[in-house]
Amino acid sequence: MTASLHDQVPGLANLDGGPPARPEVESLRAYSAPLEGRRGLLRLDFNENTVGPSPRVVEAIRAIPAEQYAVYPEYEGLREAVVAALAATAGAGESRGFPGLTADHIGLFNGVDAAIHAVFHAYGDRGDRLLTTSPTFGYYDPCARMQGMTIEAIPYGMPGFGFPLAAIQAALAAPQPPKLLLLCNPNNPTGTRLAAEQVLALAAAAPRTLVVVDELYEAFTGDSVLPVLAERARAAGATDHFAADPFAAVPNLLVLRSLAKTAGLAGLRIGFAIGSPELVDRISRVTGPYDINSFAVTAAFAALEDQAYVDGYVAEVLRARDWLAEQLQAAGVRHHLAGGNYLLIWPKTDPALVEARLRDEAGILVRSMAGKPLIDGSLRLSLGTTEQMQRFWRAYQVIEKVGDGSS
Ligand SMILES: Cc1ncc(COP(=O)(O)O)c(C=O)c1O
Repeated sequence: MTASLHDQVPGLANLDGGPPARPEVESLRAYSAPLEGRRGLLRLDFNENTVGPSPRVVEAIRAIPAEQYAVYPEYEGLREAVVAALAATAGAGESRGFPGLTADHIGLFNGVDAAIHAVFHAYGDRGDRLLTTSPTFGYYDPCARMQGMTIEAIPYGMPGFGFPLAAIQAALAAPQPPKLLLLCNPNNPTGTRLAAEQVLALAAAAPRTLVVVDELYEAFTGDSVLPVLAERARAAGATDHFAADPFAAVPNLLVLRSLAKTAGLAGLRIGFAIGSPELVDRISRVTGPYDINSFAVTAAFAALEDQAYVDGYVAEVLRARDWLAEQLQAAGVRHHLAGGNYLLIWPKTDPALVEARLRDEAGILVRSMAGKPLIDGSLRLSLGTTEQMQRFWRAYQVIEKVGDGSS
């Protein structure tokens, strides 16, 4: 057996794995989601699109010639395409358009996860404070820890998981305000919604804090700040050719959007950060030059051009949501359903067992919320199509002996 460096050089710290990383990294546990072995099962565990992307995306990817795999990705025109898509959806009928929104307001990232990481990398210094809510999306916490930040996570109000507005306002108004405020709106996993005007008011009141609003699930419930900013820009009488920065009043606000969930591109990894050009520039400085691959770029162009596909999927999910809510209500199953394409369910029997039986007996994946504050004992279930919800409900009734399955 070869002696380790540690044995050979007395007095050295244990260098078996090479020199230690930064202290924050040495004490960090990797953010690990159980993401293996999911293909072929009904995936109701990560709030993904459950039917796949637009056929136009598939066609566009198939049309990429093989020699292009050898070429570094090119991003030209993608930011403009995001602007066009946001302008088209930032209102209804005549009141569309987003005066003043330009390509410089758009940052491109390898998924919103990478945008979140970049925000912390660019802004989070040792000893700085992250203000957020609890429970919320699990990736904010390790990002703060890896920077050596402290974390203030304010619990949602019970009953009903209400947004803790007064406590957040108070924390922002402290003499030493937090460096970052991370708001997941609607919140994953509680579905809690905060009105867009409230988000904008929080940002306006806290100019020394970077306010990041993670709008991954806004398409399902519509609480985005972007239509409000667009409306304000239109009301200011601005035209597309001559308009002020729509983020001028909130230069400390960053909005995160992804094509992972609604557009069905989770496996390709592409997300956007939208904010004032200076802010977007700062967080874009800490990424690599080619972090987004060519397939994701091609897919994003095609997906952004097919808003009708996304709208159709969202409408189907909302129908399925109503159907499932009726069944849960009628069968007296404790549940909590608010924003987003997911809900929480509290089984009567051991949740770990229910999760395992759903997977092993019905091929359905759900996510256990074991150990999470306020929602320990619940399962988070993503919403898909009505047919998929019917399949879930049949299996759940048998396992939990509720509704028709109770006889
Ligand atoms: C709230 C929230 N933000 C960000 C992400 C990550 O998004 P992306 O797949 O674009 O990295 C997720 C994925 O689950 C999420 O739930």
